[in-house]
Amino acid sequence: MSDSLQMKSPPESKRGNWTGHLGFILAATGSAIGLGNIWKFPYITGVYGGGAFVLVYLICVVIVGLPLMLAELIVGRRTQKNPVGAFKNLHKKGSLWQGTGWLGVASGFLILSFYSVVAGWALAYIFKAIAGFEGTAEQIQAEFGSLVASTGESIFWHSMFMLMCIGIVIGGVKRGIERWSKILMPSLFVILGGLMIYGLFFTHGGMQAVEFLFKPDFSKLSAEGVLSALGHAFFTLSLGMGAMITYGSYMKRGSSIIRDAVAVSILDTVVALVAGIAIFAMVFSYGTEPAAGPGLIFQTLPVLFQQTGPWISVPFFVLLTFAALTSGISLLEVVVSYFVDERGWGRTSATLVMGGTIYLIGLLSAVSVWKVPFTSGTGWFDFFDVLTTNYMLPIGGFLTCLFVAYVMKDADRADEFGSRGLLYSGLKFFLRYITPIAVLVVILHGLELLPFMEYGN
Ligand code: TRP
Repeated sequence: MSDSLQMKSPPESKRGNWTGHLGFILAATGSAIGLGNIWKFPYITGVYGGGAFVLVYLICVVIVGLPLMLAELIVGRRTQKNPVGAFKNLHKKGSLWQGTGWLGVASGFLILSFYSVVAGWALAYIFKAIAGFEGTAEQIQAEFGSLVASTGESIFWHSMFMLMCIGIVIGGVKRGIERWSKILMPSLFVILGGLMIYGLFFTHGGMQAVEFLFKPDFSKLSAEGVLSALGHAFFTLSLGMGAMITYGSYMKRGSSIIRDAVAVSILDTVVALVAGIAIFAMVFSYGTEPAAGPGLIFQTLPVLFQQTGPWISVPFFVLLTFAALTSGISLLEVVVSYFVDERGWGRTSATLVMGGTIYLIGLLSAVSVWKVPFTSGTGWFDFFDVLTTNYMLPIGGFLTCLFVAYVMKDADRADEFGSRGLLYSGLKFFLRYITPIAVLVVILHGLELLPFMEYGN
């Protein structure tokens, strides 16, 4: 069976393809660049003290992110299948490796359910920014709390965001995802460039922001920070759940996988850093704290936006929404591609039914007073976030890594990679020995099982 795979490349499928190289790059960077870059990266950098954390994060992108992205793209483009079909195809029918694909589809399902709630806040803040932020700092900060606490508002914005995702994914690979990525991503780059210029040259905090991000002070770096950097490298590159398998499966043969993976990783990283410069420039110029935590952009920034006015605040939240949207569609596409390929559903019904179901699950996260049963008041939002980010994604990434490193046929793998040169040997080395160990450490940390950490219980 799989011998035939070795000899001839599988046929280009009729499921849809990117029109070309640029289509893939923009869609994949669209998936990678998201709330992770603009919301989470700046705030965890602030919490973990700046430069040293950034340096560790960059190292993690190279030793964990890049090899895993290559592994996922190799699996996807080789099989031209969704994550479940891909593992089945490369191993055998009924193979347990399919479970990795299942885990991925389930992760996409759960991540989108709460991702959409945060994206909904971003959408809501576009309108708040247009109206203008008014009142004392306390009042402006309290507005975020009341948005989160208001069931009606949260549900409304979550609904709007899910409708947008569904609307795009229904259009298909070329006419939906690619077309919208080609509109949203260039706009995102332009807005971000503008905000960076504003931060660097029109506030007093520009240089301080650059120093904060790029001048490492290792005395501020904790073991906790290192592990967060590793976990974040994962999330920000959309790894560990087959999103890159799925997007890779729509790639045409012939383009260089390594060049594309490097391009996507660099763009993702640059966007995170530039967003960091823009945000911290404003934070420092008004003498506020960089370590504000998750409220950094929804609470700290709006207070500053009172001084800057809507010319800065509106583009900022538009940027955040665009980033979230192109990531949201990639999460939905993983789920949809499974039902289309493996279950023979039509794209429209798969998108409507699954998008609708994810929307309903998302209500659990949108309604902040609903708590997970049998816990001491854990909200669903936190529950899904921790479950996926700390467990499901790292485990999915770990298994994918082992599969490509030890199970997949060398001929298939090398053929897809495009060469057997030094780079290929390097990739194999990382996938065998470095990446899985690093990911395992993240998993053990998630389980609070690392012997050298103090877990306080
Ligand atoms: N990478 C996106 C971000 O930084 C989130 C995301 C989209 C994602 N698709 C994913 C994360 C798949 C993990 C897996 O916001």
